[in-house]
Amino acid sequence: MSERYGDHDYWNERYELSDSPFDWMCSYDDLASTLRALLPGADTMPSILVVGCGDAPFSVDLVLDGFRNTLNVDYSEVVIEKQKIRYPWLEKHFKVMDCLNMNEIEDNTFDVVIDKSLIDTCMCYVNGYDTTMKLYCEICRVLKPGGRLITISLHREIEVLPFGCDNPACSFVASSCTLASARKNDTCHSLCVFDKLDGCDVGTVAFLSSQHPIEFINAREYSEHDWQRWGREGASGSIDELLASFNNALEVL
Ligand SMILES: C[S@@+](CC[C@H](N)C(=O)[O-])C[C@H]1O[C@@H](n2cnc3c(N)ncnc32)[C@H](O)[C@@H]1O
Repeated sequence: MSERYGDHDYWNERYELSDSPFDWMCSYDDLASTLRALLPGADTMPSILVVGCGDAPFSVDLVLDGFRNTLNVDYSEVVIEKQKIRYPWLEKHFKVMDCLNMNEIEDNTFDVVIDKSLIDTCMCYVNGYDTTMKLYCEICRVLKPGGRLITISLHREIEVLPFGCDNPACSFVASSCTLASARKNDTCHSLCVFDKLDGCDVGTVAFLSSQHPIEFINAREYSEHDWQRWGREGASGSIDELLASFNNALEVL
């Protein structure tokens, strides 16, 4: 991704120039069956924070699917204004906010946080690693104990998981998959689920941990076909070796 993706002015200029809503990587429809299995029932009105929402139709599609208790934040003033004008009935659901410093949101507020490609943007900041670590601390802070972070990223599972799992300021239990329903077949989209353990009692920690690893709907099967496609025809060896070679092949692409 371009280094400019870590620049606030870049995003404002980009949104000034564009009038067409755009979903990075995949749409709500692409993800709906996977997401519905991961979200608390819409009838329980879970509070959902969408970080770095941009001008993606995803935010409104989530509401139209019944998840009405949402807040969508982005640090681009231009895009938030456009979203409010585009969807006046959802005006209160959009807010300008820097996700690296969400002071306006109290600790332990949301049942769910959805990060669709903000992580990829933060990795492009100068000091991308530290910035993304900070982002995940901030997300962890605003999640309720037992709350769930769902990350959809252009990066691979093994590149995303450390921001939650190896982050000294957070305690999460996590599962991940690579999505089979990615819009562009040749791009690898990962989905990671982090359940917040901080603040949970022992029974809840045990319960949350027992829910992992999650069996994802629409996860990609690492089939023989994949190995051949990625240039490993006739590969043999342990699943770890095969996964490592698959990941190496992706890096070359
Ligand atoms: C790659 S786009 C993803 C947009 C949308 N989530 C989607 O899936 O289509 C990244 C978005 O993150 C926003 N962003 C970047 N850094 C941010 C920050 N520190 N706080 C809030 N939003 C940020 C950008 O303005 C941009 O809208």
